[in-house]
Amino acid sequence: MFVDNEDLTADVLRGAYGRFPSGVTAVCGLVDGRPAGIAASSFTSVSLDPPLVSLCVAHTSTTWPALRRASRLGVSVLAEDQGPVARALATRSPDRFTSVDWVAEPPGSVFVLGAALWLECRIVQEISAGDHVIALLGIDRLSPHSAVPPVVFHASTFRSLAEI
Ligand SMILES: Cc1cc2nc3c(=O)[nH]c(=O)nc-3n(C[C@H](O)[C@H](O)[C@H](O)COP(=O)(O)O)c2cc1C
Repeated sequence: MFVDNEDLTADVLRGAYGRFPSGVTAVCGLVDGRPAGIAASSFTSVSLDPPLVSLCVAHTSTTWPALRRASRLGVSVLAEDQGPVARALATRSPDRFTSVDWVAEPPGSVFVLGAALWLECRIVQEISAGDHVIALLGIDRLSPHSAVPPVVFHASTFRSLAEI
């Protein structure tokens, strides 16, 4: 059975997109000297040469217009036990970082301590796509924390990796 195009409501699409498991990233930077950031599960690797990754941000995001002004963006791939960090970075609270262990790196990227990978990025292109913007990020440097298992996000639930 298929759901036809005219019946593709936001709920139907969220449910469908949620069938695809992903990791979760924290995309953070210093804005006017203070940390700003969002949780993003839309992170995707794009290119090896040059090194590019992407994420999709809703046009309704109130944080992105400020965050995109940061000189660099820190992308932290969240660890297995950092579901609460993702939730904290998605709240409407004005101070999302009180419960988050973070560190700022010159020249202005912000990373979550204990994450599975840090990528220091700069925005190279923004492409409007429907109700989101695709932000293409160039990687300036990265720090892998290979012993840290990443969290898995599936059907609105945070899970652990399991070998099969
Ligand atoms: C696990 C998780 C993944 C998310 N992924 C995205 C995403 O890929 N893109 C996006 O625009 N918002 C995503 N969000 C929502 C944002 O983190 C944030 O709540 C949203 O941008 C609204 O806050 P803002 O108005 O401060 O930007 C996600 C939230 C959670 C909890």
